Amino acid sequence: MRVGVAGPADWPEVVALRTRVFVEEQGVPPEIEQDEHDATAVHAVARDDGGRVVATGRLLVGDGRALVGRMAVDAAVRGRGHGAAVLAELHRQAVRLGLPEVELHAQVGARGFYERAGYIAVGEEYEEAGIVHVTMRRRLDDDTPR
Ligand SMILES: CC(C)(COP(=O)(O)OP(=O)(O)OC[C@H]1O[C@@H](n2cnc3c(N)ncnc32)[C@H](O)[C@@H]1OP(=O)(O)O)[C@@H](O)C(=O)NCCC(=O)NCCS
Repeated sequence: MRVGVAGPADWPEVVALRTRVFVEEQGVPPEIEQDEHDATAVHAVARDDGGRVVATGRLLVGDGRALVGRMAVDAAVRGRGHGAAVLAELHRQAVRLGLPEVELHAQVGARGFYERAGYIAVGEEYEEAGIVHVTMRRRLDDDTPR
C-alpha cells in the first residue's frame, strides 16, 4: 500500500471510488456527493500494489478549523488498514498546516473506526444525507509530522 496526497491526475479515480461507496452502496444522492469544497480540500489516497486508488478522504481547512470527510475504502479491501492510513495522512497534513485539532461527522457505523484513531464523540447524533451521524474530534498535539 502507498499513501499520499492526491494530485489532479488522481481525481477521476477518487470520484469513481466515492461514487461506488457513497452513491451506489450507501444511497447518497449524486448531486450532493461532490461539492464545492472538493476544489479546495486536501485529498489523500491509498493505492494497492497495482497502483489503483482503493481508499480516499479529504481535509477541509477554514477559519483555523480542520474537517475530515468523505472517507471511503473500496469494499473489496476493507479491514486491511487502508482507511487508517488515509486518516493518518490527513492528520499529517493538518499538523503541517499548524492545526491543533480535527473534527468530523462520523456515520454511526464508522464510529468505532474513528475511536480506534483517537477521536472522541461530542454531542447528540443527527441525520445528514439520510444517514445518522455524530460529531467527533481529535487533538493533534501529540502528532509530529513525518
Ligand atoms: C469506515 C471505513 C473508512 C474504514 O476503513 P478500513 O480500511 O476498512 O479500516 P481499517 O482497516 O483501516 O481499520 C482500522 C481499525 O478500525 C477498525 N474498524 C474499521 N471499521 C470499523 C467499523 N466500522 N467499526 C468499528 N471499528 C472499525 C478496524 O478493526 C481496525 O482496528 P485495529 O486497529 O484494531 O486493527 C471503510 O469501512 C469504509 O469506507 N466504509 C464505507 C464508507 C463509510 O462508512 N465511510 C465513513 C463515513 S463517516
